[in-house]
Amino acid sequence: MSIHISAAPGSIAPSILMPGDPLRARLIADQYLTDAELVSQTRNVYFYTGYYQGHRISVGASGMGCASIGIYSYELYTQYDVQNIIRIGTCGAYTTERKLYDLINVSLSASESSFARFAWDMPEEALPPAGPAFGLLNDVAAERGQPLISAPVHCSDIFYRKSMDLPAIADKHACVAVEMEAFALFANAQHLGKTAACLLTVSDVIPTHEKISADQREQSLTPMIELALATAIRL
Ligand code: HPA
Repeated sequence: MSIHISAAPGSIAPSILMPGDPLRARLIADQYLTDAELVSQTRNVYFYTGYYQGHRISVGASGMGCASIGIYSYELYTQYDVQNIIRIGTCGAYTTERKLYDLINVSLSASESSFARFAWDMPEEALPPAGPAFGLLNDVAAERGQPLISAPVHCSDIFYRKSMDLPAIADKHACVAVEMEAFALFANAQHLGKTAACLLTVSDVIPTHEKISADQREQSLTPMIELALATAIRL
């Protein structure tokens, strides 16, 4: 038991996939895991543990934003002996060079967030993924013949904003897209000596307002989920 996760000690596997949405966690458990057990549902944030191709694995939600993933990832790493977190999420592309459904392995998370500075005295405004998951995702994608782009991504606290201009930090670090959680996840992992990576599917292209439609959304995430699972069982 931790403050925000009610799972029994030992009931979360060392490797966990983290979508933002609790219902996505449930769907992954239902569709991909065998013998999946719901191990925590505090605040309706679902965590499941089961087996994927015979390997014990967990899937649980991070919620939205650095504040939320900062809490869940910290408690998983420190109170449940989790070693590896692969965030699986969606992002908005900043450039038309990126297309809907593109899969991105975040090589650097650049953020205006004060999370790393105030939590861990880390002065950096851009953090890399931690540990072997980033490289393994690239290797497993190559083995599977699955297209995967490694690129810097902006991690923002802001979803709705006045200006459509590219934020300065995104320009500075050549970010191809924006999401809202990787920076805090990478900061926690680096501080604690753990492993974290972030895999993203482009769900919208900001300059053109294209979006994956609601009925395509579920299916569109399949390649990302399968790559994350295939990688997690090899960590
Ligand atoms: N902004 C932040 N996060 C996102 C977006 C966005 O436009 N699209 C998907 N995740």
